[in-house]
Amino acid sequence: MDVTKNLERIKADFEAELASCRSEKEIEAVKVKFAGRKGELTEILRSLSGLSAEQKKEAGKYANMLKLDISAKLDEAGKKVRNEARVDEIIDITLPGITRPAGTMHPLTKVLDKINNIFVSMGFSIAEGPEIETEFYNFEALNIPLDHPSRDAFDTFYIDRAHLLRSHTSNVQIHIMQNSPPPIQAIMPGRVYRPDAVDASHSFMFHQVEGLMVDTDITFADLKGVLSMFIRMMFGDKAKMRLRPHFFPFTEPSAEVDISCIICGGTGCRVCSGSGWLEILGAGMVDPKVFQAVGYDPEKYKGFAFGMGAERIAMLLYGIEDIRLFYENDVRFLKQFK
Ligand code: PHE
Repeated sequence: MDVTKNLERIKADFEAELASCRSEKEIEAVKVKFAGRKGELTEILRSLSGLSAEQKKEAGKYANMLKLDISAKLDEAGKKVRNEARVDEIIDITLPGITRPAGTMHPLTKVLDKINNIFVSMGFSIAEGPEIETEFYNFEALNIPLDHPSRDAFDTFYIDRAHLLRSHTSNVQIHIMQNSPPPIQAIMPGRVYRPDAVDASHSFMFHQVEGLMVDTDITFADLKGVLSMFIRMMFGDKAKMRLRPHFFPFTEPSAEVDISCIICGGTGCRVCSGSGWLEILGAGMVDPKVFQAVGYDPEKYKGFAFGMGAERIAMLLYGIEDIRLFYENDVRFLKQFK
């Protein structure tokens, strides 16, 4: 009998049977069969006594190596099976995972981001200012004297005699100009407050984005250029712009800016009340009185300012018909803005 051949067959059989073991019990059975006291390997080791010294040496060496190999492989297989059993106890890997619904961006945040990005791409920086303000910054410095009838256009929440909630973001213009010399090129997004009765198109709080550009050579043409670029980037190449003369205490001349209706394209519909135009912002050349209030030389510096309501623009862009939807945080509304 060729002992070495026999040992090789045992090795192959052992490895094949061990590979199909899935439990400690099965591994134990393989151990008994191959390495146990009555196992095949023990039997061969015993039969070595009948061989010549030369053969004994050769076969004995191989048999002992195989014995060590088998015991190491049995240990390893045992460990693996025990580990797998533990993992199964802790987590049931066949269960479906828990999916957490991802939030969506608020439509106002999306619109404000878009407005900001457009102006930043034209070289404007973004500035912020206080929401609780004094009459000086909200009114007087903006050429709205305390007893002037133009105050009526800006109904205001007063906190006490000296403080109020800003009724527009124009207050930030004054802070910026007081704090830094020209040139200025900034936009000022933020919340504003007015004591309006709440309905589908009015809210006591809403968002404005104001813009200001001041230097020695700024003209009305620069204002038109910046606004027409903004309108094209915001509403698309087809949107047309129209300026109508208007009055604001802090700009002279002043204009209201319309875009061709983005719903009907200008032919007239319910949203634009049949006119084909939608008013989206106010603008004008900074009044010299405003420059005086902040200590800029009105003979030397010229500038333009504009202001728009973010809710109005979001309502037009997304076809939202009730301003209250922005503040109710109803997920059925919010999740539509993926
Ligand atoms: N502050 C104005 C408003 O609230 C908007 C505006 C800003 C108009 C700047 C002209 C220039 O209605």
